[in-house]
Amino acid sequence: MHKTTWVELNSKALRHNAAIVRRLAPNAAILAMVKANGYGHGAEWVADQLHDLVNGFAVARLSEALSLRFAQANTRILLLGTELNADVMIECAVNKLDLVIHDINTAKLLATTKLPQPITVWLKMNTGMNRLGMSASEFTEAHRLLIAHHNINAIHHMSHFSDAETEDYTNTNRQHQQLTSLSKSLGSVPISMANSAAIIVHPKTHLDWVRPGIMLYGDDPSSTLAATNALQAVMTFKAKVLAVREVNLGDGVGYNRRWQANGKAIIATIAAGYADGYPRQAPDGTPLLINGERAVIAGRVSMDLLTADVSHLPSVKPGDIATLWGENLPAVEVGQHCNTISYELFTRITARVHREYLKE
Ligand SMILES: Cc1ncc(COP(=O)(O)O)c(C=O)c1O
Repeated sequence: MHKTTWVELNSKALRHNAAIVRRLAPNAAILAMVKANGYGHGAEWVADQLHDLVNGFAVARLSEALSLRFAQANTRILLLGTELNADVMIECAVNKLDLVIHDINTAKLLATTKLPQPITVWLKMNTGMNRLGMSASEFTEAHRLLIAHHNINAIHHMSHFSDAETEDYTNTNRQHQQLTSLSKSLGSVPISMANSAAIIVHPKTHLDWVRPGIMLYGDDPSSTLAATNALQAVMTFKAKVLAVREVNLGDGVGYNRRWQANGKAIIATIAAGYADGYPRQAPDGTPLLINGERAVIAGRVSMDLLTADVSHLPSVKPGDIATLWGENLPAVEVGQHCNTISYELFTRITARVHREYLKE
């Protein structure tokens, strides 16, 4: 197929990263985060690659859960905190979806809704993130209401870390202590807290279920960690060079002529822009690779095109291939230049970008 702009998705790297999660958390079940279309990688593809290595998947929207259920008839799927009414609860029960219950009113509604079959719920405690989750007293009330209820198969307890990737462990320790001590006081229930950062840095938080997201896709959220070099990029974003031109002292490049030549220079124009998901805010100096060699963005990123200074690479020609992030150029490094994170880069790849699934 003729293509100018594409992502390559590497199954081997994905499975390698999942194996690292397994190695780091040998005694925990793994709930792989595939929300936001598998962090932009394709939820169904990710689930297909990982179903034998993990114990379930989590998504953030009912539509994501239903599509995944269609693709994976038997795998465990958790619908994370969302708006829940009785109809949604019934739909979840019909489709055998686990549900996060993050507020007491929803717990009460669940207790009075007639479900076609019982479901498994994950009660979420607010331990300091202050987005979703119940206070200690609401959490206790929800647990007592649902623990032996005929609508419920099993209860899990969960919370979410706000800054497990930072070097200051105080808050992470406090959050961990808050959930585990309350949970233990309520009985013996599976507990889940650890996201990627906690899986890598805080083994005591692994508990019964770990919930890796970004590390499955190759990024270590704490660049200080030992796993940094062990994880492999799953998505490599590539585009063709469309044109190469020489510019002279004082010539500008792109909108508003943001980049200006301070002597003779060579500019490559590449078939990727913000409409493909490349960040418009990328400043001059943001790295990319052309034919595997480093170059930098020169000039404002436009809708369909971006421009790079390739003065030091005189052999670059139209048809050559640029790597915008991925293998040999971590998305996290591009994100640092663009004042964002790999999570955002991955999830913003747009529908017109061709997807190429690399086999083992
Ligand atoms: C509830 C929950 N658990 C786990 C994760 C995974 O986090 P990470 O991608 O940092 O591993 C997320 C992601 O935001 C989340 O919302």
